[in-house]
Amino acid sequence: MPSLDFSKPLYALAPLAGFTDLPFRSVVKKFGVDLTISEMISSNALIHNSKKTHRMLERSPIENPYSIQIAGSDLEVIKRAVEIINEREDVTGIDLNCGCPAPKVVNNLQGSSLLTDLPQMAKVIETIKKYSNKEYTSVKFRLGFNEKNHVDIAKLCEEAGADYIAVHGRTRAGRYKAAVDYDALAEIKQHVRIPMFANGDIDSPQKAKWVQEYTGAEGVMIGRAAVGKPWIFRQIKEGMDEATPELIKEVVLEHFDQMIEHYDSYGAIIFRKNLHSYSKAGYSGASLFRNEVNTIEDPKQMRDVIESFFSQNFIGTT
Ligand SMILES: Cc1cc2nc3c(=O)[nH]c(=O)nc-3n(C[C@H](O)[C@H](O)[C@H](O)COP(=O)(O)O)c2cc1C
Repeated sequence: MPSLDFSKPLYALAPLAGFTDLPFRSVVKKFGVDLTISEMISSNALIHNSKKTHRMLERSPIENPYSIQIAGSDLEVIKRAVEIINEREDVTGIDLNCGCPAPKVVNNLQGSSLLTDLPQMAKVIETIKKYSNKEYTSVKFRLGFNEKNHVDIAKLCEEAGADYIAVHGRTRAGRYKAAVDYDALAEIKQHVRIPMFANGDIDSPQKAKWVQEYTGAEGVMIGRAAVGKPWIFRQIKEGMDEATPELIKEVVLEHFDQMIEHYDSYGAIIFRKNLHSYSKAGYSGASLFRNEVNTIEDPKQMRDVIESFFSQNFIGTT
């Protein structure tokens, strides 16, 4: 039985560097997401034995299937990175990042800049496929670098051996602002046989259903909307209504506790950005709360402030 059953709609948590770490992914997993993926991991950092990078490979025991996303374009480096990942039995797939628009990534022919050198992109995919001992080799890409050439890219992924693709419906030039081109996603589906996750601006159960039907994609992938609302996957899959204040409080505290467990007391500081997102879910005094948590470093004090804020100030969804 394959780990991903593409015969029914699937829902994935998009990789978000700085957000989709192990604590967050395990919180989201409890709401039924079908696939979780690590943050983007530099293949260079991985082969140079960076301790921090190796920690980023770890998954929570409840994450299954779980993919590791790598970035890179040097075939020898990619091969060695794949061999390191091969040693981990708890990984289901290796995903190649061909979407990251950040200049420091793009300047090294990594992330979205691989879309400017399709022959090299094909070789990278072939290298992963050849050396990986994992069930899936997948590629996450944008519609193009400056111009859209999504159909060519998708066909190339298929021919190079990708088992599935995830497509963010913008070009690199469109960053995170251009309108997502769902027609282009639908066009891809008409030209390749491998399954596709459609991605970009999906922020509600209704939109998830619409995008899936409109594009014909086997799955949808959600990133930013899950950051403040990890329960969105239960809303999609089980028809859950809006989250209750009790549920939100429980989730925020559980997420916080996992952060402290994973990062020790530094987790309280990293968690500030998550509190900014959670507090947007319909709370009065949210901006004062955000200012306050920005000054707190002590985990116990942070937990008390979180508990008190999420017990009192709910005013409903905004
Ligand atoms: C803060 C942030 C970090 C991201 N990190 C990654 C990453 O590590 N790998 C990747 O493939 N895409 C990354 N993306 C892109 C997302 O996976 C996704 O394609 C994009 O946000 C569109 O989906 P959304 O509208 O559901 O968020 C990132 C996006 C954001 C906003």
